[in-house]
Amino acid sequence: MTDKELLSMAKSASLNAYVPYSRFAVGAALECDDGTVFTGCNVENAALGSTICAERTACCKAVSEGHRSFVRIAIYADSQSWCTPCGACRQFLAEFSPDMEVLCAKSGGRYVSYKLSELLPHIFEY
Ligand code: THU
Repeated sequence: MTDKELLSMAKSASLNAYVPYSRFAVGAALECDDGTVFTGCNVENAALGSTICAERTACCKAVSEGHRSFVRIAIYADSQSWCTPCGACRQFLAEFSPDMEVLCAKSGGRYVSYKLSELLPHIFEY
């Protein structure tokens, strides 16, 4: 699967975002080491701290289906700046695959690519 195809899946997933509070829809497409892709969107809640980001939705879908090794994640938002994962999502993904690739897109589909270890060096472990 190409980067563009994975980003396209992330964009499609953003259409399912439940965002009555922020109106900021995010989609993610998480590629596992066997090629399986799990998508996710952000799901907000009136108790704002209970909101789940698109990346963690995708990650929980994957782990709950028995997948724990990830190669890439594409993140899409219709925004002016690159949609990079929040700190909690960086730590959450690093739990499983600290060396995975992170594709961050913005409106129009242009994207930048990082290693997760660049975005979150020195992850918390014990
Ligand atoms: N959000 C994500 O889903 N992923 C990100 O990478 C950044 C933020 C969501 C959380 C909230 O629903 C909305 O975007 C605004 O913060």
